[in-house]
Order: sequence, then structure tokens, then C-alpha cells
Amino acid sequence: MVYKPAEDSLLLKSVLEGRNLEGKTCLDMGTGSGIIGRAMADSGAEVVSADIDPEALEHAERKAEEEGLDIEFVESDLFENIESGFDLIAFNPPYLPGRKGLGEENVWRGGETGVELTLNFLDTAEYYLKEDGEILLVASSLADLERLHEKFDPEIIREKELWFETLYVLKLK
Ligand SMILES: C[S@@+](CC[C@H](N)C(=O)[O-])C[C@H]1O[C@@H](n2cnc3c(N)ncnc32)[C@H](O)[C@@H]1O
Repeated sequence: MVYKPAEDSLLLKSVLEGRNLEGKTCLDMGTGSGIIGRAMADSGAEVVSADIDPEALEHAERKAEEEGLDIEFVESDLFENIESGFDLIAFNPPYLPGRKGLGEENVWRGGETGVELTLNFLDTAEYYLKEDGEILLVASSLADLERLHEKFDPEIIREKELWFETLYVLKLK
């Protein structure tokens, strides 16, 4: 399933739009429609976009071609097929808590408490960053953010209150 850009996508995109990424190498993890990778490329970055879902990758690749953007697309479960060395890694992950078996889980289910996939991502992400690299990550107040804060101490750099949740863009490293 291709995730249709929503408030979470736009919040993360708004952080990238203010940046000059000229000469930077960026990873757009969980590219979905490709909205984040295209924002990175528009800001001057060399971009690798990854997703576990081949349908999403096909869609994102077509959109990049239409816009004349040179982005590398990689099918990968988190960092499985990714090579190291990024200045910036951005991920709007599936972040909602929920049990298995409800369908379309890759786009919404972050695990039992919502943060399990994010914690797996963060355990590995630092090894794929350059020394001064940074991670931008979307998270939701509906997930167990305590676990995330305890282990990784992220900085909240942007937030948006919706009627049923608050969305955050977290910065790490
Ligand atoms: C909430 S969507 C975000 C899509 C897009 N980046 C955006 O902001 O609109 C999450 C994306 O992560 C992908 N994803 C889920 N689990 C993944 C994994 N283990 N490795 C890579 N991508 C994954 C999904 O297929 C989906 O495209």
C-alpha cells in the first residue's frame, strides 16, 4: 500500500524545507509516496529512498522521474540493504500502537506500544550516519514515547496538535 501524505508527512517535510542540503547525502527511510525524498532532493541533497514495500517504491520512483529528480530507490527492511555514510536520515515510521492482524500494518503499526519498530530503527541508525550526522523522526503522543525518551533522549524540534494526538518531529544526535 502506498501511504497517502498526511499531517505527519507534511510536518516532517516542513522541517526539511528550511534547510540547505547541498552536498549532503540523505536517507529517506520508509519513503511511501516519496514525498520526503523529493523534498530532500529539492533542497540539493543526494538521496537514497528505502521502503519495505515494492509498490511504494515503484510509485515513488515514477514520481521522481516525472519531476526529473535523481533519487536511488532501494527495497529494504530498515537497513537490511542500505550502505552506510549519511549526513541525514529521516523516517516517518508506522508509529501507532496496535495488535497484529488488522491489515495494512506497514503504514501504521509501530508495534504493541507503537514504538517497537522505531526502537529497532534507532538501535541501528547511528551506524549508518557520518560523524556529525543527524536523525529526524516522526512520533505520536498515542505511542509509548517514555520508552523512546528513556533510551535515546531525543530533542523535539517541531510539533503539531491534532484533535486526537500530538505529532512530533524528533531530532537525534
Ligand atoms: C507512515 S508511512 C510514511 C510514508 C512517507 N515517508 C510519508 O511521510 O508520507 C511509513 C512507511 O514506512 C514503510 N515501512 C514500514 N516498515 C518498514 C521497514 N521495516 N523498513 C522500511 N520501510 C518500512 C511503509 O511501507 C510506509 O511506506
